[in-house]
Amino acid sequence: MEERLVSSATNIEESTIEQSLRPQTLSQYIGQDKVKSNLSIFIEAAKMRQETLDHVLLYGPPGLGKTTLATIIANEMGVNIRTTSGPAIERPGDLAAILTALEPGDVLFIDEIHRLQRSIEEVLYPAMEDFCLDIVIGKGAGARSVRLDLPPFTLVGATTRAGALSAPLRDRFGVLSRLEYYNEIQLENIVERTAELLDVEIEDKAAFEIARRSRGTPRIANRLLRRVRDYAQVRGNGIITESLAHDALELLQVDRLGLDHIDHKLLRGIIEKFRGGPVGLETIAATIGEESHTIEDVYEPYLLQIGFLQRTPRGRIVTDLVYKHFHMEIPRE
Ligand code: ADE
Repeated sequence: MEERLVSSATNIEESTIEQSLRPQTLSQYIGQDKVKSNLSIFIEAAKMRQETLDHVLLYGPPGLGKTTLATIIANEMGVNIRTTSGPAIERPGDLAAILTALEPGDVLFIDEIHRLQRSIEEVLYPAMEDFCLDIVIGKGAGARSVRLDLPPFTLVGATTRAGALSAPLRDRFGVLSRLEYYNEIQLENIVERTAELLDVEIEDKAAFEIARRSRGTPRIANRLLRRVRDYAQVRGNGIITESLAHDALELLQVDRLGLDHIDHKLLRGIIEKFRGGPVGLETIAATIGEESHTIEDVYEPYLLQIGFLQRTPRGRIVTDLVYKHFHMEIPRE
């Protein structure tokens, strides 16, 4: 996969920076109002009853703040958070080790929970339901099962694909929260908040310019802000003005809607080679040299969201909005 500035994936260096900028409480967290109001009620009720919070599943596109929310949930509950991910848990024993090391009330955060293997999911069911662990000791005829009690805990699972979760696992979450793409005002507020934490001055219009090119995604907004800050430092006097932000973003090849050269390649490919579609996912993938699941998970969601692409039973089609965006004539039927 090519490197891209508007990718919603994160890297290790960036996740360290991100962590220091992350909101710590629900009141500092901008956007996702429905999710926030629900969570604040569930958290308050659990605290009043002195119980652990029910298990929470956070789902939605990458970069929208699922990990941040998991951390906030732990903070608001006044407990520790232990973090792992679906692919990191290779054997049932790995999960057993994590579960037995939890303190009462802890939040266990499992990112990419849809990637847990079935054999591991099965360890999770009794842990989520009854806070216990069934372990098998020995092999063959002499094998016996032992039940171990676990401390009560809250599982917070995160996934970009709720549909890929097995039904028995999904059913064991008491709270299911879907994160939505952010609007431009919310992203502008996030950019301004981050700029303040980074101690950089930014004009309102510059923050808005970054916001509208961030594909509805805070992680991208904060990344673009850091690149524009570099530009303002070298080409200006450090203050991020609207015109500096505009020039920096042009240089970074992120267009007005936050689309980059890969989006352009994909959309133009469908127009130029397939007359705008419909064309199958595998065919697009082969044409632009990307894996089909990368297109499906990474590039497509935002293009579908802004109405540039449509999925039909016969394949993907580009909409009139794309022709307008590229100043091309809309073909007649
Ligand atoms: N930084 C990244 N996401 C954020 C959010 N939703 N609210 C505040 N700051 C953020």
